[in-house]
Amino acid sequence: MNESKNKDKKDFLEGKLILLGDSGVGKTNLINVTMGKKFLENDNVTITASFSEKTFEIDSNKYKIYFWDTAGSERYRGVTKLYYKGSDIVIFVYDITSIKSFNSLKEWIKETKEIIENDYVCGIVGNKKDLYKEQQISDKESKEFAQSIGMKLKIVSAKEDREGFIEFVQDLIKEAKPILENKRDSILLKESKTKKHKCKC
Ligand code: GTP
Ligand code: MG
Repeated sequence: MNESKNKDKKDFLEGKLILLGDSGVGKTNLINVTMGKKFLENDNVTITASFSEKTFEIDSNKYKIYFWDTAGSERYRGVTKLYYKGSDIVIFVYDITSIKSFNSLKEWIKETKEIIENDYVCGIVGNKKDLYKEQQISDKESKEFAQSIGMKLKIVSAKEDREGFIEFVQDLIKEAKPILENKRDSILLKESKTKKHKCKC
């Protein structure tokens, strides 16, 4: 690697992370608590999508991750799909007290495969662990499902276990490192080609 190429390189990797899952599973709250914001008790249905960013330092590597919060509601599904593309990390969320949200995972996963063309890593999060007394899907059942499709799974609570979700995110970021490096390198290559082209004109 020559020096000029090194100079162009940022000292961090950037990535897009998206949360998908039915309305009410807790996507907005998982992102809020990751960003250090307060947990919201009331329903606050997300319309379309929005993003917030957080920097992580993992094994001496810095990552700037853009967290995309999407609308789970059927009403906004068409618009939400516009935000899938370019995601490097996809987290499918279900609510452990809602069998319906668990059964929907297959549909979310299928749709994502159809839309995202680039490489990405993904995992499943079962949220609302604090409501274990109302649990409708056993840990065994969810583990078996995740294993059957080769995905990581973590049961968390946005309300009472923000660290659990953050740890899971960090695991996925580590796994996505080669994808993020490739993306950075191809952007740098494109930029250097554009610069060269400009000089000749
Ligand atoms: P959409 O924006 O409609 O797609 O929903 P969402 O997935 O963003 O859900 P949201 O974060 O708005 O949470 C829905 C409801 O579940 C709210 O009333 C939250 O307070 C509640 N909730 C979210 N996470 C938890 C949790 O870990 N435990 C408990 N007890 N409630 C939670
Ligand atoms: Mg929301």
